Amino acid sequence: MNEATRIAQVELGKGGPLVGVQGLGCMGMSEFYGDTDEAAARRTLEAAVAAGVTLIDTADSYGRGRNEEFLAPFVAAHRDRITLATKFGLERTDDPHHRGIRNDRAYVRRAVEGSLRRLGVDVIDLYYMHRRDPAVPLAESVGVMAELVAEGKVRHLGLSEVTGAELREAYAVHPIAALQSEWSLFSRDVERSAVGAAAELGVAFVPYSPLGRGFLTGAFADAGTDLAADDYRRRQPRFTGDNARANAALLAPVQEIAAARGATPAQIALAWVQQRSAVHGLTVVPIPGTRKPHRLAENLAAAGITLTAAELERLEPIADRVAGDRYPDMAFTSVTREG
Ligand SMILES: NC(=O)c1ccc[n+]([C@@H]2O[C@H](COP(=O)([O-])OP(=O)(O)OC[C@H]3O[C@@H](n4cnc5c(N)ncnc54)[C@H](OP(=O)(O)O)[C@@H]3O)[C@@H](O)[C@H]2O)c1
Repeated sequence: MNEATRIAQVELGKGGPLVGVQGLGCMGMSEFYGDTDEAAARRTLEAAVAAGVTLIDTADSYGRGRNEEFLAPFVAAHRDRITLATKFGLERTDDPHHRGIRNDRAYVRRAVEGSLRRLGVDVIDLYYMHRRDPAVPLAESVGVMAELVAEGKVRHLGLSEVTGAELREAYAVHPIAALQSEWSLFSRDVERSAVGAAAELGVAFVPYSPLGRGFLTGAFADAGTDLAADDYRRRQPRFTGDNARANAALLAPVQEIAAARGATPAQIALAWVQQRSAVHGLTVVPIPGTRKPHRLAENLAAAGITLTAAELERLEPIADRVAGDRYPDMAFTSVTREG
């Protein structure tokens, strides 16, 4: 992709930074989706920035800090061209399967110093609370995040996996630039309250796993049998056994629309989530994750696809028919706190 075909830019929330309409999720570069060819991942990052992708997404929990460290040289080379987003709140320990949620003041203070050090920067452009611990009042967790803004350690604030009511409560403490939660043709529970609240407040929506962790690309028709032993999706209810077979059948309209347009299923899935912008009246900046330059180019080309009303209607029933939860433990999502 040359300069002439660079993607468009949008404001990430009221008063937020200008970012490319599609960002890049970097999680899979260090963990979760099998072995990574690091040279290819670095080429993907370079190709992304050359194409106008600016929102680069990581978290302190990805690879237990390794993802932030992996990104550091790239960040150093392109500091002024990117909006660097990282997250705190998902606690990891030496046990690779342990996931705790921590939002308390002392934890946030420690976490930000760790991320700044690993990323090799003196300010984080967008700092998200990765998961909410309902035992910690938002006034405390967002309050300490606001202090980080005042101290110049963080530029903008974000939240992940919160309900609409929680977003409103947090926004009253400090403006929130972006809400990052799972949103795709397969996962639409955010439309219950979070999307409406984000639209009302002028908070940008950053859909994570917009390709359904790869499922929507059609790559898992065989019930995920070829996943590496340590691939996180082996524990994902949607990727296993009968659920995977039933879910693969749901992709027929996605594949047919793609074929009729000379596009790929991944592009149709991304066009769908990007078009939520117009439907809900908010800014949407999906962050598909890929470690491969050719897939990055494919995903970016989705920004040029506008689905027709008839196509949208065919895609509408899919989410309600998906078999299996989107996490092995739904306590890690906002759905369980919806009123
Ligand atoms: N806030 C949260 O709690 C949270 C949770 C999950 C993820 N995230 C963020 O969101 C980002 C994206 O989510 P995700 O990575 O979980 O899922 P995703 O973007 O829905 O899918 C990523 C998977 O799809 C594959 N893929 C990407 N483009 C493809 C294409 N065009 N054709 C075929 N396969 C393709 C990738 O493989 P290759 O890499 O091999 O191309 C990877 O296995 C993450 O990187 C992370 O930054 C946030």
